[in-house]
Amino acid sequence: MGSGIITTSYIIASVLFILSLGGLSSQESARRGNIYGILGMAIALIATISSAQVTGYAIIAVATTLGGIAGIIVALRVRMTSMPELVAILHSFVGLAAVLVGFSSYLDPGASHTGIEKTIHETEVCLGVLIGAVTFTGSVIAFGKLRALIGSKPVCIKGRHYLNLTAALVCIWLGFVFVGAESTAAGVISLTIMTLIAFGFGVHMVMAIGGADMPVVISMLNSYSGWAAAATGFMLGNDLLIIAGALVGSSGAILSYIMCRAMNRRLINVIAGGFGEAPSSSSSCEVSGEVVAASVEETAELLKESKSVVIVPGYGMAVAQAQHMVSVLTKKLTDRGVRIRFGIHPVAGRMPGHMNVLLAEAKIPYDIVLEMDEINDDLKDTDVSLVIGANDIVNPSALDDPASPIAGMPVLQVWRSKTVIVMKRSMAAGYAGVENPLFFKENTRMLFGDAKETLDSVIQHINNS
Ligand code: TAP
Repeated sequence: MGSGIITTSYIIASVLFILSLGGLSSQESARRGNIYGILGMAIALIATISSAQVTGYAIIAVATTLGGIAGIIVALRVRMTSMPELVAILHSFVGLAAVLVGFSSYLDPGASHTGIEKTIHETEVCLGVLIGAVTFTGSVIAFGKLRALIGSKPVCIKGRHYLNLTAALVCIWLGFVFVGAESTAAGVISLTIMTLIAFGFGVHMVMAIGGADMPVVISMLNSYSGWAAAATGFMLGNDLLIIAGALVGSSGAILSYIMCRAMNRRLINVIAGGFGEAPSSSSSCEVSGEVVAASVEETAELLKESKSVVIVPGYGMAVAQAQHMVSVLTKKLTDRGVRIRFGIHPVAGRMPGHMNVLLAEAKIPYDIVLEMDEINDDLKDTDVSLVIGANDIVNPSALDDPASPIAGMPVLQVWRSKTVIVMKRSMAAGYAGVENPLFFKENTRMLFGDAKETLDSVIQHINNS
């Protein structure tokens, strides 16, 4: 393929990537956005493989076949609730690729950079390897935390800020040593030491983040992986990779900022790895009161008699795959004249938009699905808040207990409604591992059981009455 056709293909692919991002910004256009993205990537792959620089077709064929098969198997098997783990491990691949490309591009015997070109190239290698290494180990730890292989509690080493600062300064110094190195061997040594320090920083950064802040870390690692890809694009002189990387990097950065605002966290705290005060291990807020269980019959009667109900879904609804039952209940109650609305927390579930996707799949109308800020003020005028498999996102200790690991995180204030029904299987804590005083409040009733089965029983009772 001639260079003109390749450049044109790259421009078309870039436009498709931008359209894809635009499409993904709303549920109605998300499917279209995905198709644009797939088309853009297919064009990018074909154009790159057809360029004159690419010669090792046998290796590419083997790698593409193996990678493609592994990707298809994993994508077919992955459950919706495990998506964030998959995303985290995919980010780690991008980071590792940036590290490997950095080293191979530095050691490439065919490279003939001299003077300022050499300095620029080595700076690109240094930045690409640095960002890639942090992304790689940070994402592996995020994968471990999301998969519960590593505890979700923050691990805060004493003097960690000084450690981070020292690591950053040493990396900058090693970067200068690398760019000014007289021989390749000296360059490799400083690059390797810098890589090892960056690996350590990635581990340290994510280990210091508490469970409830993981959404911000995931979107931040998403952004890092984009910048790592862009740096790889610079090293390889591939314009499309630079554009695609910059798109992922900047959209990930915007998402991180939005997540930080939603969680009332400062971006610098997350970037520096738990920067600020370490959360106290013991909460100052005593949980008092009694747990009152509700029966299916009581719940059905209460819902039927209500004028307004707000449903707050959480991770447990996804686990139970209860969204279709929620849809049936919504229809039944709406037909009886009950006003039903949904309150969605920005980090409900395990990935951004998790609840919106499930509710859309169950054909729940978008106009009754409201964001936390849109519904919180209305909760005091609500008869029943029905919490389905949610825990951290309705935990009042986030507002009442400054020592809580989730202190400062905005939550859905369901306890302000007349009655709260909480559907879950036990008294177990949520993802952040924090006890929930909501379950002990006077106006709370616990409806224990699997969300799908219990909803089915509630619907049957409403049908029969
Ligand atoms: P969680 O705090 O994780 O609570 C979910 C609750 O669902 C659990 O307490 C569990 O209690 C219950 N549950 C599990 N399976 C169930 C089933 N089959 N039927 C009924 N209930 C079931 O979820 P949340 O309130 O949605 O909060 C999300 C948490 O995940 C936040 O801490 C957030 O920071 C974190 N997080 C979010 C994301 C994103 S981007 N959304 C990513 C990573 C982490 P039982 O075991 O007693 O049933």
